[in-house]
Amino acid sequence: MNAGVILVAAGQGTRLGATQPKAFVRVAGSTVIEHAVSRAFQAADITQIIIVAPASHLREAGALVSSHARADDISVVAGGVERTHSVSAGLAALRANIEVVLVHDAARCLAPASLFDRLVAAVRDGRDAVVPGLPVTDTIKQVDGDGRVVATPDRSSLRAIQTPQAFRRAVLTRAHGSGAEATDDAALVELLGVTVEVLEGDELAFKITTAADLAHAGRILGA
Ligand code: C5P
Repeated sequence: MNAGVILVAAGQGTRLGATQPKAFVRVAGSTVIEHAVSRAFQAADITQIIIVAPASHLREAGALVSSHARADDISVVAGGVERTHSVSAGLAALRANIEVVLVHDAARCLAPASLFDRLVAAVRDGRDAVVPGLPVTDTIKQVDGDGRVVATPDRSSLRAIQTPQAFRRAVLTRAHGSGAEATDDAALVELLGVTVEVLEGDELAFKITTAADLAHAGRILGA
């Protein structure tokens, strides 16, 4: 099965405090985008990557791609205001022969190839939607607008969800056709009533949000 990756990198990443969008920040000598692309292409079935970049940075993204050994298999498209719009723009650019779509946050640039492989295998085995998740170690509380606790869900039933998230292409296309918005693609698929399965996540798929996260990535890469 041909698998394609939609690498969403169109956020501004203001919490990082950098002068450029997060995906273009360098760690251990390469940009966040380049780290994500190289890991994705190490996975077995990935035949195309769509980089969804900020409209202001299409040229910069194109320059990163042009020197890549698999430049012919990488496209750059402009993202939208919300993450959901960015993913939709990526979906529209996938080749016709892509059957499995992995939606991946560039900010989770150290997610290893083995994680992509496990997710693609699960879709090949018949799942419609699979996402990586880790047990939560904090107690999570639901609060109202005034900060008062409304509920304390049983921690053992909670998972912190990561990307890449893998979908049968037709399912993801239908989910995005609904016009709903969410912070991940699995939520849109859930709205269709389609089962989403959680696979064991990977600590390396953490999201770079703050300067401390960037430093953590640098230490992992031995910088
Ligand atoms: O904002 P958040 O951390 O949830 O963003 C997750 C990923 O989605 C990031 O890689 C970011 O670049 C991407 N994104 C996007 N388009 C947006 C907002 C976020 O591609 N409009």
